[in-house]
Amino acid sequence: MIRVNKVRAGYGDGPDILQGIDLTASGGEIVTILGPNGCGKSTLLKCIAGFVRPRGGAVEMEGRDVSAVPVHEKVKNHRMGFVPQTDNVFSTLTVADNILLGARHLPVAERNERYAELMAQYPSLASKQERKASALSGGERQILSLARALISNPKVLLLDEPSAGLSPLMMHEVFAAIAEIRDRTGMCIVMVEQNAFEALGVADRAYVLSLGKVAIEGRAADLLADPAMRHLYLGGEPPAAEGKPRFAAV
Ligand SMILES: Nc1ncnc2c1ncn2[C@@H]1O[C@H](COP(=O)(O)OP(=O)(O)OP(=O)(O)O)[C@@H](O)[C@H]1O
Ligand SMILES: [Mg+2]
Repeated sequence: MIRVNKVRAGYGDGPDILQGIDLTASGGEIVTILGPNGCGKSTLLKCIAGFVRPRGGAVEMEGRDVSAVPVHEKVKNHRMGFVPQTDNVFSTLTVADNILLGARHLPVAERNERYAELMAQYPSLASKQERKASALSGGERQILSLARALISNPKVLLLDEPSAGLSPLMMHEVFAAIAEIRDRTGMCIVMVEQNAFEALGVADRAYVLSLGKVAIEGRAADLLADPAMRHLYLGGEPPAAEGKPRFAAV
């Protein structure tokens, strides 16, 4: 579905932020992109989406070279949904208007049908349709930005840090919603994440970037079990399981 082939990219006349990245993602899987701040995760996602044009290499969707295809054409022709890292909802608009913004290119009947489906799937949004997005919690805002991307029934969903700023409980809910989308629709999901342990818990495969290159790639379960990966990129041991305190009480 998506193939990133030796992609190099940067901004203006600055250096290459991405220095030859290879990545694939298929329908029915969640591929997560991990790595430290500033290593190029968002830049890679923006390259796939079409906000940043590669300086070298190619981005393919459904077997076609789409490196130079602008975002709005990918949304239409390859049914791509993109949720950016920041500013992903319009605070002054209502929940309903935020979602419908994602469906401007759809015929009215289809738009209404999809909207009704989403309201059935996400009751937390359905009960707040006429509220301003500014009145939502962080988790609700993330679900709202997902719903806006989902209204056009995408085949490819690109998510930049969907769990940013959420409490562990909310993070869990958002990841569960993303896994449910994969399982129900067979969508191809590429998700940049900062919360590596939790992202690996829900993803099928992962790429860890370091200094603009892929440092580690593999099945998420294998990466979680790999002591070197833990030590180098996941900051030590995983969080304690629920109910088991990490440190003994004094
Ligand atoms: N619009 C831009 N113009 C110039 N440089 C940029 C731009 N966006 C990002 N960069 C630079 O590119 C590098 C990679 O940024 P990017 O946003 O891809 O990192 P990231 O891995 O997503 O980081 P974070 O985890 O903090 O979101 C950084 O050094 C950043 O300063
Ligand atoms: Mg980023």
